[in-house]
Amino acid sequence: MSDRGAERTVATTRLTTIRAGRAEDALAIRALYRAVAATPGGIARSPGEVTPAYVDGFVTKSLARGVILVAEQDGVPGLVAELHGYRSELRIFAHVLGELTVAVHPAAQGQGLGRQLFVRLLDIVTHEHPGISRIELIAQESNHRALRLYEGLGFRREGRLDGRIRNPDGTLEADIPLAWLR
Ligand SMILES: CC(C)(COP(=O)(O)OP(=O)(O)OC[C@H]1O[C@@H](n2cnc3c(N)ncnc32)[C@H](O)[C@@H]1OP(=O)(O)O)[C@@H](O)C(=O)NCCC(=O)NCCS
Repeated sequence: MSDRGAERTVATTRLTTIRAGRAEDALAIRALYRAVAATPGGIARSPGEVTPAYVDGFVTKSLARGVILVAEQDGVPGLVAELHGYRSELRIFAHVLGELTVAVHPAAQGQGLGRQLFVRLLDIVTHEHPGISRIELIAQESNHRALRLYEGLGFRREGRLDGRIRNPDGTLEADIPLAWLR
């Protein structure tokens, strides 16, 4: 896990701090994920599926064998964004950072925070995790903002999983796997 100092930048008008996540952030991360999950089409879970066990699980695994970053904004309580990913315990996948999820609070989306978190992630992986040569993630086809963000950062589409997502209205949609390779 990176222990670099926090970086402070100005996103629109508010001062934003991006720092390494900590175990104590779990409660604020849960509140953030519930707010993000209220809008379908982004993260896979609905608000009721953002359980303490889910959040504690990914925080623990990301701290132990991955990367977890959080963003705070001056004058805004809690966290405005979070990104995490972690490696499998299996040796054949030890070079892969997976289970990647990013969530920006609905009130803070479109301000460049998602891009800032990913730029920081790629910097950390490039310089502090030489053993990681692949980062993988998945986004549903209608999530244009996420797909544009990932492809703009160098992630490549690796196919198309037809009918994998069932939307709240019952329609089926494709999921798009992407990967960044060192
Ligand atoms: C997807 C998400 C992480 C992007 O973060 P963000 O801070 O809102 O996005 P940014 O402001 O950094 O912009 C990212 C890119 O999307 C583009 N973008 C912004 N709004 C857009 C829109 N409505 N449609 C298409 N592209 C859009 C931006 O131009 C930018 O592209 P660039 O990097 O080429 O300049 C964020 O919106 C989010 O958390 N959404 C809900 C949860 C989710 O979808 N998570 C990802 C699941 S795979």
